[in-house]
Amino acid sequence: MPPLRLAVVGCGAAARSCHLTALPKVPDIRLTALIDPDPEQAGAALDWYREQGGTSGDVRTARSVDDVSDAFDAAVVAVPHTAHATVTGDLLARGKHVLLEKPMATSAPDTEALAAAAARAPGVRLLMAHPRRLFPANAWVRALIQEGVLGTVTRVRWTEGHPYSWEPVSWSMFDRRLAGGGVLTDTASHVFDILLWWLGTQTEVVDYVDDSLGGVEADAFATLRIGGVRTEVELSRVRALGTSCVITGTEAEVSIGTDFPAGECTLITASGEVRHRGDVQALPPAQDEWDDLFVEQLRNFAAVCADADVEPHATAADGLRVARLIEECYTGPARRMLSQPWLTGTTAGSAA
Ligand SMILES: NC(=O)c1ccc[n+]([C@@H]2O[C@H](COP(=O)([O-])OP(=O)(O)OC[C@H]3O[C@@H](n4cnc5c(N)ncnc54)[C@H](O)[C@@H]3O)[C@@H](O)[C@H]2O)c1
Repeated sequence: MPPLRLAVVGCGAAARSCHLTALPKVPDIRLTALIDPDPEQAGAALDWYREQGGTSGDVRTARSVDDVSDAFDAAVVAVPHTAHATVTGDLLARGKHVLLEKPMATSAPDTEALAAAAARAPGVRLLMAHPRRLFPANAWVRALIQEGVLGTVTRVRWTEGHPYSWEPVSWSMFDRRLAGGGVLTDTASHVFDILLWWLGTQTEVVDYVDDSLGGVEADAFATLRIGGVRTEVELSRVRALGTSCVITGTEAEVSIGTDFPAGECTLITASGEVRHRGDVQALPPAQDEWDDLFVEQLRNFAAVCADADVEPHATAADGLRVARLIEECYTGPARRMLSQPWLTGTTAGSAA
């Protein structure tokens, strides 16, 4: 079978450091188009791809999908969050398979419309880019839960915070009109996906607090019930909180680092016996090298596009559940504003 002809739509930081770095190592895919309304970004992405060893002879650069629609059969979409729905909906309507960066979309109507568009497009596949499912520690925890090693899971605490360091080429992460939201939209797209993958798909937002005064939030605190389990998530783009998750069960407790690779993972039984401490093995499809996460993600995308029986690592349904949960945090009755007395001069009616 000839390699899948692929366009990368949105040629910024993620396109380059995640997808274009991986593409030369995926023989089942041939890059044929780089699309970005800013020609400088498409050109820089092409240079980057060549530096990574990519063969660029037949790669066309373009400002819009219209200009090169005949050149590809599938696309990676890595555009700013609020453009995900329009760009992906258009590609699906043209019969193109899509691997979509997180989050699926930034509003309930957009997310539902995209899920419906994917369902209406026969033979066309929409997959989500949720590479944290391929982190060895995340896969290890899922196996421990599924095998009953933890007993009944009773509580999960996820903490992830550091001064912001990603370098997007546009205002995609800071201008609410492009980003949709802040640390919750950006980081919880990954975190919520893993929690739902571990614990099940029933969700309730018990409490949600963030510091947005109209712009994108830098701090977010969510208390949820996922699959019936009390789940506390604290995320920050400004505070060095570290990156950890503790999953407590009736039989044992496991703790992992949530960055890559996790490094310090522990499994301790309720009686205090240390069953594991240190790295965990990367069982396929999990990967123990950062670049290989994206190689594996693309390899799976190509396999799913070629064969309807191949199981995707993350589906549109997964993306929909995550986007709904984020939306419920932002707009549901549990949302409160973080107390910021240095700005508002009062703590009345807001979270402590
Ligand atoms: N998987 C990960 O770990 C990871 C890491 C960072 C970012 N991301 C995701 O990747 C996506 C892009 O983020 P980024 O950091 O690359 O942003 P970025 O600002 O660096 O790049 C966005 C690019 O999209 C282009 N663009 C804007 N509108 C477009 C349109 N309609 N069609 C085509 N291109 C368009 C911009 O010109 C820009 O070049 C986001 O969804 C983000 O959440 C994922």
